[in-house]
Amino acid sequence: MKKLDIKALLKLTEYGKEVTVNGWVRTKRASKNVAFIAMNDGSTIKNIQVVVEMNPEFEKILANVHTGAALSVTGELAESVGSGQNVEVHAKKINVLGVADPDEYPLQPKKHSLEFLREKAHLRFRTNTFSAIARIRHAMIFAIHKYFNDNGFYNIHAPIITGSDAEGAGEMFQVTTLDLENMPKGEDGKVDFSDDFFGKAANLTVSGQLEAELAALALTKVYTFGPTFRAENSNTSRHLAEFWMIEPEVAFFDIHDDMDLAEDMLKYVIRYALDNCMDDLEFLSKRLQEEEKNKKQEDRSMELIEKLEFVLNDDFIRITYAEAIEILRNSKPNKKKKFQYLIEEWGADLQSEHERYLVEKHFKKPVILTDYPKSIKAFYMKQNEDGKTVRAMDVLFPQIGEIIGGSQREEDYDKLYTRIKEMDIPEESMWWYLETRKFGTVPHAGFGLGFERLILFLTGMGNIRDVIPFPRTPFNLEF
Ligand code: 4AD
Ligand code: MG
Repeated sequence: MKKLDIKALLKLTEYGKEVTVNGWVRTKRASKNVAFIAMNDGSTIKNIQVVVEMNPEFEKILANVHTGAALSVTGELAESVGSGQNVEVHAKKINVLGVADPDEYPLQPKKHSLEFLREKAHLRFRTNTFSAIARIRHAMIFAIHKYFNDNGFYNIHAPIITGSDAEGAGEMFQVTTLDLENMPKGEDGKVDFSDDFFGKAANLTVSGQLEAELAALALTKVYTFGPTFRAENSNTSRHLAEFWMIEPEVAFFDIHDDMDLAEDMLKYVIRYALDNCMDDLEFLSKRLQEEEKNKKQEDRSMELIEKLEFVLNDDFIRITYAEAIEILRNSKPNKKKKFQYLIEEWGADLQSEHERYLVEKHFKKPVILTDYPKSIKAFYMKQNEDGKTVRAMDVLFPQIGEIIGGSQREEDYDKLYTRIKEMDIPEESMWWYLETRKFGTVPHAGFGLGFERLILFLTGMGNIRDVIPFPRTPFNLEF
């Protein structure tokens, strides 16, 4: 007999048929004559109810069955009236695969704080919240690949170990096989990497963009979807040291095409979640409403599913950075000095409080900002004619702030070369990138979508540490 997961079992209607349920006990309620065991195997948020007519043998077995135990139950599929599902299983044989001592098992059936569960990341998949998030993550990975595949994009694997700094921000983790206790030094007193594994300094990539550009300049429409690493010491609810990024890159695209792609793709994957993950979204929505009960009415966020629909229904607002600065400068929180960082003049780097103000309070819609000052953006962005700004575009979302960062790329060799020199980027780490601007260079554009920020938005969770199974953040490398 083929093994059926609980999701499949719950759809059966062949009452009387013998089936086997494998899973973990969520709850057990036992009386003298009958016991009810709610079992879950993570295939769905729904539990299946196992009904046990007590006899001395079952009584002995069930004495060892508590929340967290793993069981394999064979019994008869029956129509259910009380379990919340259509079917239940009337046990004939119970095999205890693994016990869970109630005095030790941390996930007893009661409410646990997210902080507590972060310390139990090896077990938290077994909760409704974290299994729902894991299933939504999976669905989004699939939807993203489907979107690009259906639109003629080719997936490219960018390297994880690199010798260059794609963002030029110096936030890299180094990779070395040198003996840290005894580093070889050159005459100038600096570390001599010629003896290192690659014969030069190496690090973990902060972005696959530069390599995606090389591929786009041959395959036209490509995207990467890989892990990226940033050693920025920002202990916020939106930053990870290791996160996943989706980076499409398209030849013959300008910044407007890039914005259209970003908006279309985000709407597609959100639609996909609504169409395919409703059980999990409904659970997370209830969870969020429960959590927000203690908040003041005006501080509560929109109901989760309503919020997702809301993003789909309108065009995103598209304005320039300069326009955003004017709005922010004249905003109430700026005038009343409520922003942590006050906006005084053009040139200021926007913080997430400003991004969220624009989206949540001012426009009440996702916003795409363009034409940022070149001084606060990466070297590769196409320079505008004004000499001050670049063709950057950031997509700002409610609750998140920046979810996407992208740009049209500088395709002119001389301008790019000058910018690399101005920004002190070592030319020898970029020769190959520069060379693409010598041979058949074309306008092109792309962006990076932070995968965990997307999942934050979709799940309504408040902390990025809760939407990746094993978060990597400063001073946190457990599991
Ligand atoms: O804006 P960023 O730094 O852009 C790039 O890396 C470009 N190379 C992308 C491109 O044009 N191909 O990062 C892109 C996105 C951000 O908008 C944010 O969603 C996410 O990546 N991100 C992070 N997510 C989690 N933790 C961090 N530390 C992140 N840093 C950026
Ligand atoms: Mg950015």
